[in-house]
Amino acid sequence: MKVLVVGSGGREHAIVEAISRSPKATKIYAAPGNAGIATLAECVAIKDTDVERLVEFAKENQVELTVVGPEAALAVGIVDRFREEGLNIFGPTKAATEIESSKDFAKRLMVKYGVPTAGYATFTAFDEALDYVKRGSLPTVLKYDGLAAGKGVVIAQTMEEAEATLRDMLLDTKFGEGRVVIEEFLTGEEFSLMCFVAGNKISPMPVAQDHKRAYDNDEGPNTGGMGAYTELPFITAEDHAYAMEHIMQRVADAMVEEGTPFTGVLYGGLMKTPNGIKVIEFNARFGDPETEVVLPRLKSDAVELFMTVAKGEQPAAEWHEGATLGIVLASKGYPGSYDKGAVIRGIENVESKIYHMGTAIKDGELVTAGGRVMIVVASASTLREAQQRAREDIAKIECDNLFHRTDIGNKAFR
Ligand code: AMP
Ligand code: GLY
Repeated sequence: MKVLVVGSGGREHAIVEAISRSPKATKIYAAPGNAGIATLAECVAIKDTDVERLVEFAKENQVELTVVGPEAALAVGIVDRFREEGLNIFGPTKAATEIESSKDFAKRLMVKYGVPTAGYATFTAFDEALDYVKRGSLPTVLKYDGLAAGKGVVIAQTMEEAEATLRDMLLDTKFGEGRVVIEEFLTGEEFSLMCFVAGNKISPMPVAQDHKRAYDNDEGPNTGGMGAYTELPFITAEDHAYAMEHIMQRVADAMVEEGTPFTGVLYGGLMKTPNGIKVIEFNARFGDPETEVVLPRLKSDAVELFMTVAKGEQPAAEWHEGATLGIVLASKGYPGSYDKGAVIRGIENVESKIYHMGTAIKDGELVTAGGRVMIVVASASTLREAQQRAREDIAKIECDNLFHRTDIGNKAFR
C-alpha cells in the first residue's frame, strides 16, 4: 500500500517511522517532510495546506491512505476534500477540527455534555471582558479564540496584565479578529491522553507528559514542547478509567450527537486537580512532542490501525510495556530568534531514536534549520533507565548552537 504523510516535524517523522515498520507499506511519501523523514520516505515539495495539490498527488500516485499531522491542514479542510474525491484519509473534518480551532466551541460542547473543565465565559467586547475579570479572582486565564499556534493563552497574575492582554486581544486585535475565553485558573499535574477515535469507537494511547517551558524547572517562555515521556506514575488506573469514560468517550459521543463525528486522534490536554481530572484543551491531532514518545511503543500495525480509523471502524491499538523519554535539542535563542545552519555531528553514535524537527542537509552535512531541531527518544523497561539513556545519547551529539532541558521526566520521580 502507498501511504502519504502530511507534515514536516518530529511528529511526522515518528508517524512515518511507525508506518515504515508495517509490512503493508510498500511506499511512503511525505509532504513536505524533512531531512530525517527523507531517510524513510520520498519527500515531495508540497505545502501541508496546499490541499488541491495534495489531492492531485494522491490520485496521480495511487496513494491508498493519507495521514495528516498538522492542525493547519485539518483546519483548511484537507479531510473533507480527500473524502469528496473518495480517497482514504486519517484525520478529522474541518467541522470536527473546531474542537481545537475554536476554544468557545470546545467549551460549549463540554458544558452541554457534562465534561469536567474550568469554568469560563466568552467575550467580544473589551469593557464587558474587563468587568468580568475585575469581579473574578487572580490569576486569571485569558485565551484568544481562534487558531493562534499556542500563542493565544495568557495567565495573568495581576489586574494590569489582564487588562493589557484583553486590550491586545480585543481592541488591538493582535491575533486577528476574535473572541476571548476567560477561564478559571486550575492547579495540578498536566498530562496528555490521546485516543484513536472513529465516531463513537475509541482506543487510547499511553498517557504522556509534555514540557512546554523552555528551561529547567518549567521556567522561561512557552515553546512547542521541550521533551516528553511515558508512563506517568501519578496517573493511576482509576484516573485513566475516569478520563476515558467522562472525558474522551463522552466527547466522542457528543461529536456524533452534534452531527460532527470525529475521526483521527483526539488529544485531551488534561489536568489532575484537587477536584478531579479536568480538561485544559483539546487538540484534533497527534500531539507534538507526545507522539514521538508514544508511537515507538505501538505494537499494532500502524497502517492497519490508521486505515481502520479512516474507515470509521473500531480501532484496537496495542502497546509495548515499558517507558520512553524524549529530550528536544533546540537552537540557542528559541523560542525567540535564533541562527540556522550550525553543523550537527555525532548522531551516528546515538542508540536512541532520533526524530528530526528542524534540520537540513547543507554541503553534505546535517545542519540546524529550525527552532526545535531534533528529539532524542530512549526506550527502556523503567523511566529512570530511559532518562539515563536519553541523557547519555544527547551527550554524544556535537553542535555549538543547541540547548536542551536536563530535567525531562523528573516530575515522575517526585
Ligand atoms: P493551551 O494553549 O490551552 O494548552 O494552554 C497553554 C497552557 O496554559 C496549558 O498547557 C496550561 O499549562 C495553561 N493553562 C491553560 N488553561 C489553564 C487553566 N484554566 N488553568 C491553569 N492553567 C491553564
Ligand atoms: N504538546 C502539545 C501540543 O501538541 O499541542
